[in-house]
Amino acid sequence: MNLADACDALAAARRVAVLTGAGVSAESGIPTFRDAQQGLWARFRPEDLASPDAYFRDPALVWEWYAGRYRDVMAATPNAGHDLLTRLEREKEDGFFLATQNVDGLHARAGSGTAGGRLVELHGNLTTARCEVCGQVDALPAPQDFTPPPVCAVCGGRMRPNIVWFGEFLPEAALEAAADAFAAADVALIIGTSGVVYPAAGLAFETLRRGGTVIEINPDQTELTPRLSFSLRETASAGLAALMDAG
Ligand code: OAD
Repeated sequence: MNLADACDALAAARRVAVLTGAGVSAESGIPTFRDAQQGLWARFRPEDLASPDAYFRDPALVWEWYAGRYRDVMAATPNAGHDLLTRLEREKEDGFFLATQNVDGLHARAGSGTAGGRLVELHGNLTTARCEVCGQVDALPAPQDFTPPPVCAVCGGRMRPNIVWFGEFLPEAALEAAADAFAAADVALIIGTSGVVYPAAGLAFETLRRGGTVIEINPDQTELTPRLSFSLRETASAGLAALMDAG
């Protein structure tokens, strides 16, 4: 498959499923997951902060890390890649499904999931917190008013980041919806993800198994590249523009 074939396949597709990873937010100035450990946090591996064990050992430390990421995310804005995905949703309407591994909430802020299609945040969202006692989910206060840990407005319990941590299960309904959408997709797009964290990375194979086309957009080769229909070695925004504007 070449670029022209990929453009034609996307233009003709009635059902499109998209998986995004940290690379889509890189152009908003948010470091990718594996590049994120800078400054004070450089001595921690993400796995040592984003896990139930880490939170059990030192909840204040884990909250401090998430509060910092929350401030960075709220200071950032969606970029052209996020916007092109909202345009693709307007074109495909209820034939559009977007599953993201990103917890920054930027797809939702760009408007994904509001034009007939669906947005599913597979790994949660760091702009919200979840009560450890009663399960209530609430938006965090504005960054300047936020001192962690948040306390549940319903039961007074301690709240934790509303994130799927390493070693935790993905929300079953979200994962099932994503698996169905990828299985039904004529075309799947895999954008800005290293493709190493399952089950999200396995969604591409649902599409391939049913004879669909899977197109990757990533400046670098990934674990998934050898198995996909076509790869565009571009940033998320440039790759989406190339695929959509020529189609
Ligand atoms: P990674 O940080 O593993 O990978 C980011 C990918 O984005 C890499 O393949 C880069 O080549 C690519 N990339 C960088 N800049 C880009 C750009 N401008 N446009 C497009 N792609 C670009 O992030 P994820 O694959 O999202 O899980 O990581 C997946 C999951 O692993 C995360 O959700 C997190 C992590 O461990 C949990 O927190 C459970």
